[in-house]
Amino acid sequence: MKFFKNKAGRAEELRIPRHIAIIMDGNGRWAKKRGLPRTAGHAAGAETFRKIATRCKNLGLEYLTVYAFSTENWKRPPEEVAAIMTLLEKYLLEAIEKMEKEGIRLFIMGDMAPLSPRLRELAELTAEISKKLEGFQVNLCLNYGGRDEIVRAVRKYAQDYKSGLVGGLDEEGFGRYLYSAGIPDPDLIIRPSGELRLSNFLIWQSAYSELYFTDVLWPDFSEAELDRAIEAYSRRERRFGGT
Ligand code: IPE
Ligand code: IPE
Ligand code: MG
Repeated sequence: MKFFKNKAGRAEELRIPRHIAIIMDGNGRWAKKRGLPRTAGHAAGAETFRKIATRCKNLGLEYLTVYAFSTENWKRPPEEVAAIMTLLEKYLLEAIEKMEKEGIRLFIMGDMAPLSPRLRELAELTAEISKKLEGFQVNLCLNYGGRDEIVRAVRKYAQDYKSGLVGGLDEEGFGRYLYSAGIPDPDLIIRPSGELRLSNFLIWQSAYSELYFTDVLWPDFSEAELDRAIEAYSRRERRFGGT
């Protein structure tokens, strides 16, 4: 059990969030600083992701959601997009090998239609294996956009309404049409790399998330950095509009 000092200088127990979401940003700048190609930054970022996911599991988190590729990231040079897709394939292949042993459930959130058949197949396989497992869950946001997610949900709802499957809509009902159906909203959203924006990440789900920004670039993001974010979260007072 870890403690932090509260405003009164007293030791308080660290509050571990149920769900952390991370915008894994800064790979390109990390590589540029070292005179390396951007793709080297993505490879280093993938390593950081492996390390941080393990740390989150060991800390007792229930969910980790990471932003790996946005609906806008297709604007990048095709070689860079291809390199990112290859890293993702590699990660999924590796996950399929170890997820049962390590007890990690893995789901992809995003529009898989434009992805390669191989990536789609691997994504389906990880989802299938995950359904049989229990415990820590990683959501990998891939070709994910918050606005796209909402528009898709509205379309699907409209279809179901027309077919008479559903009646009127409320917030909870709408949530069931999102990729995040059944997953609690993130308690804490972390964005490294110094950018102070959400870049279309979890637009609906972030309504009451605590936000944590750091200048550290994602490949340099360490376990100690994660601990600092959780400590900052522990100091926050969440009111959800109440007193
Ligand atoms: C995040 O790092 C990875 C993806 C968006 C795929 P970036 O590639 O955006 O790195 P910077 O922001 O250019 O440094
Ligand atoms: C957000 O980072 C997307 C991911 C980290 C996958 P970007 O680098 O694409 O965001 P902007 O362009 O700086 O807003
Ligand atoms: Mg970026």
